[in-house]
Amino acid sequence: MSASHLVILAVALLVDFATAGVPLPRYEALLKQQSAPSDPTLGLYDDGDKVIRLSVDNFNATVVDQNRGALVEFYNTYCGHCRRFAPTYKSVAEHLLPWSEVLIVAAIDCAAEENNGVCRNYEVMGYPTLRYLGPGFQPGPQHYGQSLHTQDINEIREILAGMVAAENLTSSHNNSYWPNFHYLTENDSASSLFEGLSSVTQYVAVVHEPENTTLGVEVALFMTQWPAVSVRRVIDPAVAAKFKIDPTNLPISLVDRKGEITAYAPESTNGESYAKKLWDVLGKKNITPRPVTVHQPSATPASKIKGQNELIDEVHRNKHFVYQADLEQAIRTVLHNEVSKVGEISGEKLLALQRFLAVLQRYNPLGANGHQLVSKLKDYVVQFNDKLTGSQFEEELKRLEAHLSPVYSSTHFVGCVGSSPRLRGFSCSLWTLFHFMTVQAANNEESQDPLEVLQAMHGYIKNFFGCTECSEHFQAMASRRKIWSVPNKEEAVLWLWAAHNEVNQRLAGDATEDPEFPKKQFPAPDSCSECYRTPDSKSENLEIEWNKDAVLGFLKNIHNPQFVSRYGVQREELLHPTADKMRQKRQISSVFTDMDMRMGMLLYAFCIVMMVLAFKLFAFKGYRKKPYGHDLLGKV
Ligand SMILES: *[C@@H]1O[C@H](CO)[C@@H](O)[C@H](O)[C@H]1NC(C)=O
Ligand SMILES: *[C@@H]1O[C@H](CO)[C@@H](O)[C@H](O)[C@H]1NC(C)=O
Ligand SMILES: *[C@@H]1O[C@H](CO)[C@@H](O)[C@H](O)[C@H]1NC(C)=O
Ligand SMILES: *[C@@H]1O[C@H](CO)[C@@H](O)[C@H](O)[C@H]1NC(C)=O
Ligand SMILES: *[C@@H]1O[C@H](CO)[C@@H](O)[C@H](O)[C@H]1NC(C)=O
Repeated sequence: MSASHLVILAVALLVDFATAGVPLPRYEALLKQQSAPSDPTLGLYDDGDKVIRLSVDNFNATVVDQNRGALVEFYNTYCGHCRRFAPTYKSVAEHLLPWSEVLIVAAIDCAAEENNGVCRNYEVMGYPTLRYLGPGFQPGPQHYGQSLHTQDINEIREILAGMVAAENLTSSHNNSYWPNFHYLTENDSASSLFEGLSSVTQYVAVVHEPENTTLGVEVALFMTQWPAVSVRRVIDPAVAAKFKIDPTNLPISLVDRKGEITAYAPESTNGESYAKKLWDVLGKKNITPRPVTVHQPSATPASKIKGQNELIDEVHRNKHFVYQADLEQAIRTVLHNEVSKVGEISGEKLLALQRFLAVLQRYNPLGANGHQLVSKLKDYVVQFNDKLTGSQFEEELKRLEAHLSPVYSSTHFVGCVGSSPRLRGFSCSLWTLFHFMTVQAANNEESQDPLEVLQAMHGYIKNFFGCTECSEHFQAMASRRKIWSVPNKEEAVLWLWAAHNEVNQRLAGDATEDPEFPKKQFPAPDSCSECYRTPDSKSENLEIEWNKDAVLGFLKNIHNPQFVSRYGVQREELLHPTADKMRQKRQISSVFTDMDMRMGMLLYAFCIVMMVLAFKLFAFKGYRKKPYGHDLLGKV
């Protein structure tokens, strides 16, 4: 082996040693590629849907003061009920697409932080919320559109038809596609029907509208793409008879400019069926509709996060781990999104916020900067006795964060990652945060109040959690499970664990379930076999007999801050060193620091090289010609 070989060996050794203790930047790069939680492309609707996506950037331009009306859904991506409703809402948009010159179907994701202001201004209290904003709509105090209190597609259509008709024709706006909703009267005749209509109009369709229905309005709206046809509704059977209409058998008729009238029998009694009949008849006359234009603002559809499979594998390997990243995401979303989005925080809401921040301050999983942030935020909020607005809160939060930055060591979910960006996430992380806090409280000598964390959680869920349905379920469950009679802090840990399992059982197999992460009873037997009294019971549905002491021990263990996993954390230096890290550091630093060690190795390698060189130069000076000189060092 030559001297140069040795140098290479020594250097290789040195490089290897130097990198061993340094965390690889692999996950950092991985996590940087992922989109932020408030990414607008993470909403429930994409380019494949007819739902028009709204955001703070296009909200005013799309639905405020327009020549047409709009149905707007305010939703939260993480709200299970919103996710379950999304397919219906897509159908509404598809179904009402022919109405789009008069009324569009749109939605805004209030879980995207950028939309906080819009959702706050529109005083959205529950999710999903449906509002009708008419043509010429201008927001104003107590005027944020008319709410629709139904999620049934037929009822939605009927209510909208009623609201559109009530917009009082064309007086307040000049939408040329707006139909004439006046009923025909005894003074109307086949010839007078065309008075004032443009020459493009070749036919007038007369529709009999049964009392207390919106049938005629719906037909008119389904026909807005047909410039050759104008639809009129008639309610009086005597007037209808003038247009050859028999309300039961032949409820629609077409009148042409020559005064000829033909009545038709649609298949069934609904607006779409009536319109289809007309479409057929007109098609045979070679009359066609204008193409429907959807004013969809472009956005890339939600895509799978790059490197996400790696995350999912990690989470599958360690099913019961609690991840630092999730705790942080929960806190961040709570502050930035949920609390900031409330218009006015007063009364019970204010009290709930103060209580939540006090508990979070005490059991805060964030690093030093995060501790300061929460305690300053709490100090800020407790000075209000009467009320505080969500925008004041948001402003103070942003000010403090800018001042204390960096606060968060991670920017993405890890344990709560979903197989699609719309699954799991915030709700999962919120549970994690509250479990974590109940365990910290149980291990804390100072606090004697067993309800400390549960009360903060209850108040938070009731007043701020953006999943209205979940919140109602939680409150009902809390009183059924007698949350206020929990006797001690350890029982509080178990109360929350049992409650969470009840929710998992209820939602198992639900449309909102992530197929990658089925909702199972926790902990699973392979995570904690001693938690089960009958460990070999395979059936999921049978009542599991838990060993509560083992469960408590297990929960305390996994929520121990020392064992909270830092996988996926980008800025570990912001966190408190774990006991493990401190021990390592102490051992090493008692002899050498990292730097000393590396310098020592370098010196060591350098000496070997020099010795070999010296050996070669001096000791073998006379044997230069010996061909096997390096055999003395042995074959390497
Ligand atoms: C939208 O309009 C409202 C009032 O009509 C206004 O307060 C708000 O600032 C506008 N938003 C944007 C993003 O322009
Ligand atoms: C329609 O307009 C008239 C007069 O402008 C008004 O009196 C009436 O209340 C309006 N009706 C509806 C339903 O808007
Ligand atoms: C009516 O429409 C015209 C052209 O589309 C527009 O210039 C005008 O401002 C509109 N008037 C009202 C009151 O909206
Ligand atoms: C029909 O016309 C007569 C005479 O012009 C008028 O008195 C009556 O009010 C009209 N009826 C309706 C329903 O408009
Ligand atoms: C329509 O509604 C009115 C008022 O609610 C009611 O008096 C009337 O009986 C209804 N008519 C029919 C046919 O249902």
